[in-house]
Amino acid sequence: MKFLTAIILLTVAVAMADKDEDDWNFFKFQFGKKHSPKEEGKRRLNFLARKRAMEKHNKENKEWQMGENKFSDLSEDEKVSLLGAKPTIRRERLISREVAYPVLDRALPASIDYRTHKCMQPVKDQGQCGSCWSFATIVPLEFNSCNKTGTAVALSEQMMVDCDTGNGGCNGGMYDRAWQFIQAKGGVMKSSSYAYTSGTTGTPGTSCKFASTAVGAKVASFGWVTPYPDPTAIMTNLQSNGPLPSGIKVLNSLYSYASGVYSDPACILADENDIEHAVVIVGYGTTTATATVPATPYWIVRNSWGSGWGLSGYFFMKRGVNMCNIESWAAFVKVV
Ligand SMILES: *[C@@H]1O[C@H](CO)[C@@H](O)[C@H](O)[C@H]1NC(C)=O
Repeated sequence: MKFLTAIILLTVAVAMADKDEDDWNFFKFQFGKKHSPKEEGKRRLNFLARKRAMEKHNKENKEWQMGENKFSDLSEDEKVSLLGAKPTIRRERLISREVAYPVLDRALPASIDYRTHKCMQPVKDQGQCGSCWSFATIVPLEFNSCNKTGTAVALSEQMMVDCDTGNGGCNGGMYDRAWQFIQAKGGVMKSSSYAYTSGTTGTPGTSCKFASTAVGAKVASFGWVTPYPDPTAIMTNLQSNGPLPSGIKVLNSLYSYASGVYSDPACILADENDIEHAVVIVGYGTTTATATVPATPYWIVRNSWGSGWGLSGYFFMKRGVNMCNIESWAAFVKVV
């Protein structure tokens, strides 16, 4: 009897190991991963640990699902370099809280979704560079400029990474400072004239290739969404000012997001200043209740981790609870 149990356990273990090997090989194929023999073992362990955590999560959590993506074999340290909202910079907000509440020109709709708006550029990928802040700076400028002129325009994140000495290039920054920089510079260049290279090109300022002839949009004014944290203020601003950058805390769970409305009890934070990644709120809505999950209000959030991550580059985050501090850092910008 004991012998039989041992045989069965061994068979199960072998089958699991085989499955692990198949999953690992498929993952490498799917995401074009080529590791040096030295790296292979470490990456495989990261991947398998992630896989177990995801299987457990998906069994227990009905609100949102995890899935494999290009981050599945990264270590925690490596993932941190994908962020870039800078702590030292974020504490001093350039503009005071005392800004007027936006005037509603229409009733608030039940939902807004700018993802498919003709002025929304395809989702981009910041790569291994802490430049999230530059992408968050650009999205509302692209959108608002196009909505005003009727012509789609893709703008340059690289310009801020290379030229904005008030921010830290690949080491992080903040969108309010970047808008101030753009205002002082006389505009932001088109990405067709200043493409994103995803890498550090040195200390900001030393490799700047600014050309005023290729400017694609100009900043008229900008401000924080106030009061905060206040979901209604954000919804109102989304309607009147278009997409809104915000800052969030990023827990390990978010990297594996695949679908559903993201929430993590550990991301309800005591400190409003606890943010490390810039994203863009591009809409909101409420899910339909199911047998297992009640109707859930959510934000539609745009990330800069490429279109292969999450829901084609976007994710839903629980609305109304200041999840990961997202309702504390929304800001708007108006174009000339
Ligand atoms: C976009 O443009 C339309 C038409 O001018 C306007 O009604 C709408 O308020 C604008 N949207 C935003 C978010 O600025």
